[in-house]
Amino acid sequence: MDHISKLKDRYLLRIGSSGSELELEQVRLDALGKKGEITQKMRELGTMPSDKRQIMGPLLNNLKESVNQALRLRKDELAEINLESRLKSEWIDISRPARESCEGSIHPVSQVTEEVITIFGDLGFEVADGPQIESDYYNFDALNIPPDHPARQEFDTFYLSEEGEDVGPLNVLRTHTSPVQIRHMEQVKGPCRIIAPGRVFRSDYDQTHTPMFHQVEGLAVGQNVSMGNLKWVLEEFCKAFFEVNSIQLRFRSSHFPFTEPSAEVDIKCCWKENQLKIGEGEDWMEILGSGMVHPNVLRAVDIDPEVYQGFAFGLGIDRIAMLKYGIPDLRTFFDSDIRWLRHFGFSARDFPSIHAGISR
Ligand code: PHE
Repeated sequence: MDHISKLKDRYLLRIGSSGSELELEQVRLDALGKKGEITQKMRELGTMPSDKRQIMGPLLNNLKESVNQALRLRKDELAEINLESRLKSEWIDISRPARESCEGSIHPVSQVTEEVITIFGDLGFEVADGPQIESDYYNFDALNIPPDHPARQEFDTFYLSEEGEDVGPLNVLRTHTSPVQIRHMEQVKGPCRIIAPGRVFRSDYDQTHTPMFHQVEGLAVGQNVSMGNLKWVLEEFCKAFFEVNSIQLRFRSSHFPFTEPSAEVDIKCCWKENQLKIGEGEDWMEILGSGMVHPNVLRAVDIDPEVYQGFAFGLGIDRIAMLKYGIPDLRTFFDSDIRWLRHFGFSARDFPSIHAGISR
């Protein structure tokens, strides 16, 4: 009996002096865990003669209850002490000025790409995609560009590998978005309406040329597609994009190997009080290349040019972004100067939509 009360004193002392929950848990395990001292003793009850058990039973139960209660009490105390010390050490100075909140901004190229997708989406064009590293088949051959065409010279094009048996096909950084036309027509082999925005690469660098820039390709294939449809679609697009009621486009006959006839398209504009006005004045600004898909291109993707025709165009995204938002130098688009981005960037809330407006 004496022994039991000593045990009790010892555990109560250990509990009272535990300084952390971890320490307390160790005491609990020592006393009441599976192999704990008190647990062992209670196990021994079963082997005792009944007269001894009748005395020891209540004593041990009592001991267990006292230890449990002390554990609970100390646990609460420790929690309280913990909270007190946190309240002392963690505090907020509500008189300090608030931290400056800085908001990221959307790059004009991303914004204008969204605007273009929104407008063409409304005209029934879906977005298609293709790789930026292309084989020369998709970038050139399938587009009816002959091997001796100037665009295939290293002077203009970034080649990634030499052609040869061990290295496989000759790869280039795509020089335009037109290979997406081929990839898409190979899939659908019939009527379609797509735009394909993305990066393109050419070996060029001055105020209006950077080695990487952005284009959006347009393609419509059907049984009665004409140059008139091309003209209407481009006019509708320009009116919506530049947000003017009337626009004048000039189709200048031109040459692309993958369209016949081909036309470069200029938009009427002028400079007024240092600002570019679209749709008025006497100047013309080139914005895109276009034409009717060449029969050889349709044949390359197994579409019968006797049954289907198509129109296609390639528009410079950076160029129309410069025109619309008055950005004078193309090279600044890719300088990653945060001050430039703050000035010309867009809020994520300026998401273009047909209903709410194409631009801010
Ligand atoms: N791919 C041409 C270019 O990059 C543009 C274009 C696309 C022209 C489609 C006609 C038709 O210059």
